[in-house]
Amino acid sequence: MNTTAALTLVNTTLQYPDGADVLTALDSVNLRVEAGQFLSLVGPSGSGKSSLLATAATLVRPTSGLVLIDGVDTSALSEKDRTALRRDKIGIIFQQPNLLPSLTAAEQLVIADHLRGKALRDARAKAAELLDVVGLSTEAHKRPHQLSGGQRQRVNIARALMGKPSVLLVDEPTAALDHERSEAIVRLLRRITDEFAVATVMVTHDTEFVPLTDAVATMRDGVLSTAIPAVP
Ligand SMILES: Nc1ncnc2c1ncn2[C@@H]1O[C@H](COP(=O)(O)OP(=O)(O)O)[C@@H](O)[C@H]1O
Ligand SMILES: [Mg+2]
Repeated sequence: MNTTAALTLVNTTLQYPDGADVLTALDSVNLRVEAGQFLSLVGPSGSGKSSLLATAATLVRPTSGLVLIDGVDTSALSEKDRTALRRDKIGIIFQQPNLLPSLTAAEQLVIADHLRGKALRDARAKAAELLDVVGLSTEAHKRPHQLSGGQRQRVNIARALMGKPSVLLVDEPTAALDHERSEAIVRLLRRITDEFAVATVMVTHDTEFVPLTDAVATMRDGVLSTAIPAVP
């Protein structure tokens, strides 16, 4: 098996204690996402989609099986090294942008880099560049309450790119947006996946946007179906 893809899960199982029983959130999941590949992840509520993202993000350790990021087996790493790997390799975008209310759009990005211990001047230049990528050059000085929901999600996306990630994990990015803004966000993620050659996994309930992605995988009771190419 090729384990040098950006993201590889091998027989990954995640169980939670459930009273006297266990709940299997991920049931021996196998997945490989290459750099520049955009995967849609669909499935009913409670089927394990967010669990898959949290496990791939190395936020949760699987009960068994492997999670490899750029070929590195994360199960062998200490918590400290996992945190460093997450910071350097993984961009996480959740439904709610979780922006800091008192900071401008540019500052949200700069502070993310500051927390990585990077130089401020480089961070400012990179933040300006990424806000341009997401179409927010003219909103860089605005605080979250001055931005629309779609613009806040764009800041969130730009922030996730600050660490130059190999893997982008996106959980229902359009759940709080109307149709037009949702489509714009998915098109933006498509462009970013191509331009930055990241491996992107997007959980979505909007199956109509699936054709903008390269493949679709379905979760059901913790079991992941084989990813098949998206129908154009
Ligand atoms: N931290 C947790 N502790 C216990 N059970 C959890 C936890 N997180 C998720 N679950 C359970 O795991 C299953 C999958 O949940 P989740 O991954 O959130 O599904 P989805 O994102 O597809 O809605 C559900 O039955 C959920 O209740
Ligand atoms: Mg979920």
